[in-house]
Amino acid sequence: MRGIILAGGSGTRLRPLTSVHSKQLLPVYDKPMVYYPLAVLMQAGIREILVISTPNHLGIYRELLGDGSKLGITLAYAVQDEPKGLAQALLISREFIGSESVCLVLGDNIFYGHRLPDMLREEAERLDGCTLFGYPVSDPERYGVAETDEAGNILSLEEKPSRPKSNLAVTGLYMYDNEAVDRAAGLAPSPRGELEITDLNLTFAREGRARLVNLGRGSAWFDTGTHDSLLEASMFVQLLEKRQGIRISCLEEVAYRMGFIDREQLMLIGKELSDSSSYGRYVMELASA
Ligand code: TTP
Repeated sequence: MRGIILAGGSGTRLRPLTSVHSKQLLPVYDKPMVYYPLAVLMQAGIREILVISTPNHLGIYRELLGDGSKLGITLAYAVQDEPKGLAQALLISREFIGSESVCLVLGDNIFYGHRLPDMLREEAERLDGCTLFGYPVSDPERYGVAETDEAGNILSLEEKPSRPKSNLAVTGLYMYDNEAVDRAAGLAPSPRGELEITDLNLTFAREGRARLVNLGRGSAWFDTGTHDSLLEASMFVQLLEKRQGIRISCLEEVAYRMGFIDREQLMLIGKELSDSSSYGRYVMELASA
């Protein structure tokens, strides 16, 4: 399975933070936002990943993350000229995806949950059509909402419904089999001029080939698109890390624990990060534990 991180968009709700900067490079406590979705893909065992961003910002992602070799993965980069919708990511990635299946994650979505990596690997194995990941929320009318049968098959998908049929918000993590690329190519732009991911998902739902997996109450999901949600995500990460003395979504640790890099490589990265950064010290301590 190939991975895609969609890190473009306009970030209008976060201006002026995003008047110059790319949203997905803003800090979420101790690391750039894009680390979190990248860690999710890596924990799912995905090692070939494409980062998509705007013409203005793509170079900074390349500078930050490089070719991935330090983390034992392969990173490639592609431009989205204009934010023409989430489903456009599949068209931009056509060559990169080839004949594989794909896991798409939005660069501003943060997931945390200790069952998540296993869950993703299990879902990748049983994938047929598309699999979405739902999160129970108290205000579903603000999100895309999925209604499912008892087996998790999606019966309906509605964007910001005034009368939600469930409390399950559709999160920014999507798995598709290879058919999705051709289906995305066949989509017509919506009234707002975008290739809508919901339209793509509905093509599978109509055939009974769209599943929703409930991430459940044992996990956390943040969409960091507003000033408040950005701060809340930072505070969540800070609280968890301080309380438990661990770091979450530390890419170097994930790479090490997944067996993508060895202890020596981990130590080298820790030294590069320097011991004046507590993040760097954490990486070095892991390497010498
Ligand atoms: P959104 O949060 O829906 O849009 P946005 O990031 O442009 O922000 P705003 O609504 O404040 O203007 O996008 C969700 C994620 O998808 C985010 O990480 C940006 C990314 N995205 C793209 O990369 N390309 C696109 O065409 C769109 C619509 C979004």
